[in-house]
Amino acid sequence: MKINKLWILCLLILCSCSTKNEEDIVSRGFERAELQLSAQLKVVPEPNEYPRTIKGGKLKTTKKNDWTEGFYPGCLWYVYEHNHNENWKESAIKWTEALEPLKKLTNHHDIGFLMYCSFGNAYRLTGNETYKDILVESARSLCTRFNQKTGCIESWNYRKAWNGIDEWFYPVIIDNMMNLELLYFATKVTGDSVYANIANAHAETTAKNQFRADYSNYHVVNYDEETGKVLHKATCQGFSDNSAWARGQAWAIYGYTMAYRETKRKDFLDMAIHTADFWLNHPNLPEDGVPYWDFNAGQEGFVPDWNYDPQMFKEVPRDASAAAIAASAFLELTDYVDDGEKYEQAAEHILKSLSSPLYLAESGTNCNFILMHSVGSIPHGSEIDVPLVYADYYYLEALLRYSKKQK
Ligand code: GLY
Repeated sequence: MKINKLWILCLLILCSCSTKNEEDIVSRGFERAELQLSAQLKVVPEPNEYPRTIKGGKLKTTKKNDWTEGFYPGCLWYVYEHNHNENWKESAIKWTEALEPLKKLTNHHDIGFLMYCSFGNAYRLTGNETYKDILVESARSLCTRFNQKTGCIESWNYRKAWNGIDEWFYPVIIDNMMNLELLYFATKVTGDSVYANIANAHAETTAKNQFRADYSNYHVVNYDEETGKVLHKATCQGFSDNSAWARGQAWAIYGYTMAYRETKRKDFLDMAIHTADFWLNHPNLPEDGVPYWDFNAGQEGFVPDWNYDPQMFKEVPRDASAAAIAASAFLELTDYVDDGEKYEQAAEHILKSLSSPLYLAESGTNCNFILMHSVGSIPHGSEIDVPLVYADYYYLEALLRYSKKQK
């Protein structure tokens, strides 16, 4: 009898420790976010330049001319969502509203990231109708890049492949799945199906052309815009054309999970499950759940077209941004499947790693970014083992999703 009581007591202590651990990740992450972001707001007080990363030991910002400016106000919105403090809301509004001119952007596809991470969160958390109109206009801008023949949205304008030969006149990158959320939103608030129809066409075309048999994906697919024919399957930011670039895999899991949420289409759910399982079952996924920047970096059978020097790194760099995106996606996917527990556990494992001193920056360091150890693009020789604003954004989003599940 006495032993039984002792066992129950031990179990209760264990359970309360694990609940405390879970709360700890969320409070630790957000405490650090508040410290880092309030320091950042002092360093860059006005929304003329947006924090992006570290270059040469110094903060690197962008001037509303890139793809990442929406993430910084997005981080401010997530902190506000966590602490409900009006000062954070004021800052989030200021950094969001300064992006309004981007609603007319049509020269690349990233208007979804730019506007939905900023104004999308702003509308969700304030209900301000002006933000809704700005988002709908942004969706209209994105639709200008859709072509009926290809059945998808053109990501970038013309560029050349790493082999220096192939020319991409209609390149579509896997990241583009993320921009579809803006289109689904526009249909919901206007009742006009044109936006969701384009989003569905894009997700279908991408599922057909951008994946391999194992559900890893090609970073870039280049189309013939006259015939819709696939011309090239390649990489721009990954190790090699046939490799699995970590962030590209994360974009796919997140993109198809979101597309399922918005449509309830089984084919999109199947894509989300297959792409998530590719990630989780990969033999080269490190024990802490934070992937190498490319699952196949340096492996036999994967030959880069860019100037790769294997001596460049002692260890293959990790990409915390890919981990954060995947964690956030896993937490959503868990709600849509019967065996969702494995995705929740995977997300929890990633978040524990990211919230440890190995990845979570000490306050006052890391140029006031929250996470360390992400990779922008190794083939371009840029943003290697640095913080990235989008790693912070998806980390905070994942923490919020995780904390909602604990309630
Ligand atoms: N969308 C660009 C990237 O993931 O680096």
